[in-house]
Amino acid sequence: MEHLSQTDAAPEIKTLTDRREELEDVGQNCSTNPTMGDIINTRFSRRSFMRGSLAVAAISTTVSPLALLTAEDARAESLSSFDFKEVEAGVDQTHHVAEGYDADILLRWGDKLFADSPDFDPLKQTAAAQEKLFGYNNDYIGFIPLEGNPDHGLLVVNHEYTNAEIMFPKFASVVKEKVMKDGKPVLKDGKEVEEEKVQLGEYTKDLVDIEMAAHGGTVIEIRKVDGRWKPVLDGKYNRRLTATTEMQLSGPVAGHARVQTPSDPTGRKVFGTINNCAGGVTAWGTYLMAEENFNGYFGGEIAEDHPEFKQLKRLGAPGGQYEWASFYDRFDVSKEPTEPNRFGWIVEVDVMDPTSVPKKRTAIGRFKHEGCESIVNKDGRVVLYTGDDERFDYVYKFVTKAAFNPDDRAANMDILDDGTLYVAKFLADGTLEWLPLIHGEGPLTAANGFASQADVLINTRLASDALGATKMDRPEDIQPNPKTGKVYVMLTNNTKRKDDQLDAANPRADNAFGHIIEITETDGDYASTKSKWDVLLKCGDPSIAEVGASFSTATTKNGWFGMPDNCAIDADGRLWVATDGNNEKDTGRTDGIWAVDTEGAARGTSKLFFRVPVGAEMCGPSFNPTSDTFFVSVQHPGDAGLAIYEAPATRWPDFKDDMPVRPAVVTITKQGGGRIG
Ligand code: FEO
Ligand code: CA
Ligand code: CA
Repeated sequence: MEHLSQTDAAPEIKTLTDRREELEDVGQNCSTNPTMGDIINTRFSRRSFMRGSLAVAAISTTVSPLALLTAEDARAESLSSFDFKEVEAGVDQTHHVAEGYDADILLRWGDKLFADSPDFDPLKQTAAAQEKLFGYNNDYIGFIPLEGNPDHGLLVVNHEYTNAEIMFPKFASVVKEKVMKDGKPVLKDGKEVEEEKVQLGEYTKDLVDIEMAAHGGTVIEIRKVDGRWKPVLDGKYNRRLTATTEMQLSGPVAGHARVQTPSDPTGRKVFGTINNCAGGVTAWGTYLMAEENFNGYFGGEIAEDHPEFKQLKRLGAPGGQYEWASFYDRFDVSKEPTEPNRFGWIVEVDVMDPTSVPKKRTAIGRFKHEGCESIVNKDGRVVLYTGDDERFDYVYKFVTKAAFNPDDRAANMDILDDGTLYVAKFLADGTLEWLPLIHGEGPLTAANGFASQADVLINTRLASDALGATKMDRPEDIQPNPKTGKVYVMLTNNTKRKDDQLDAANPRADNAFGHIIEITETDGDYASTKSKWDVLLKCGDPSIAEVGASFSTATTKNGWFGMPDNCAIDADGRLWVATDGNNEKDTGRTDGIWAVDTEGAARGTSKLFFRVPVGAEMCGPSFNPTSDTFFVSVQHPGDAGLAIYEAPATRWPDFKDDMPVRPAVVTITKQGGGRIG
């Protein structure tokens, strides 16, 4: 079954982003580890089902839908701990924020970042210009205050990927193509059926160079002036990081033969970071960039008997979604088969020194890292949570060996190089074991292909397979809550999970809408190796019984969502969830940000706070320390249907005929000031 839909089935038009995600999300986990869905199923199905089915029964038999909505709205207002009037869910060309709030565009693709940045000219793009302008497809956002000031600081923003078809003028076109099935044209009334699709033009090295320059991240000083946030273009910390910025491999893998290449025999010097999805900011004020779907940038072929073949296949590399290999040998695995081993890491950037060389912290493992949010444990050690975003892949945490030193910033600068990486095994009894990935322990031995800790880390997925970790429904952002000792895991969806693959933590087959797991670390010890877990929410439309969603019955028709992706915790310890994948067809709504209660009677009640324009994904939510500003990321707006540069689905946020649709960072503030929500 495809996604469950509450709207009429329109002919399915896949955008390039959809197709890219399908290619990336190949579910390469062939291990026999039990899936988490079986486990949750036994514990939660009855309780959740009763909640959902009672709600449906009440709607259909006792009150008119209109009366119910009014009552629902009132109940959500009274029960929810969030004090704002909900936005109406829907789809249109612009963004919407709750009444009484301002949503301002802070930075768009192509905006200046430096005093000497050139003007953005979308018709005459160059790599040199792009390196001085805000990059494409902003994703993670972090705010690092300067001198503790909540109204002045550094904004760090990831630029995950590029959409050539809507980024470059006169490049893509809409073409008609025969629909084929089993190698033959599909006929209707004796005629061959055709479908329209977007076709990319011929790549040049110049276009690839612009793409490389539009990837990576941005560090920019921002300041609130008269209630409005503004970039400080002459800020001394401003910086662009790209797919060509010099970086260093650091930690147990640095220098290993498997990360040496013809151009870098030291195995320590890497150029660039790619597909930086979510990330994190550490207690010592560094910026963590998670390298996610790096596999797609590699092309060429690798022989099945090559020693790197198996682990690369497990990661879907080479994915061949970009043309970089045609112009740069290092992206061609036929020529440089170890170059992919230098990607898939967590990158740490010292934002206080714009000349610093970013470090790829190999101790945290190599996979498709969605993000890397951290917390200082009560014993001072730092605990980082990171998900591997693929169907049937795993949830991880990393615990540093050394404690964070709040009095000496320099003492913390390399603590991410030494510590223990753990992978999660969710048990049906509601407990969770964190299994250490340590060379020589259990199956992680030379006899099984792990000759050293470097092998364990380069082949993190294979090591976790060997340990019997729980296969999850695409782990995205994982967020510790410093107020409650709990940790929230976004599991975005997994339509490939079958009935016989269910487990307690992944309880739905064909999981189109995803779910959220709440981990409770033992006695507030984030470093504990045995924890508890529960399902906070099963997502989707709770009025459709087969969906099996578990929002509280106080949640309105606007308040439910599908496909949780990124999240943030505000200064009051409350959860805000950003989504990726809602659209007119699947859920009748765009992506957005929902405020979700996790405690007390309101637990599981959700309200829509902000929604994005058509085609966009919502990411990057992040608060300033006083939670009176909410920074949010609108990624790939206009990428719906047959969108190309000349005909995007919206021209947000400029709405000018001569300006392309542009991904952008939005600041949300309350009119008259005060905390968000
Ligand atoms: Fe880049 Fe898992 O989203
Ligand atoms: Ca994401
Ligand atoms: Ca987050």
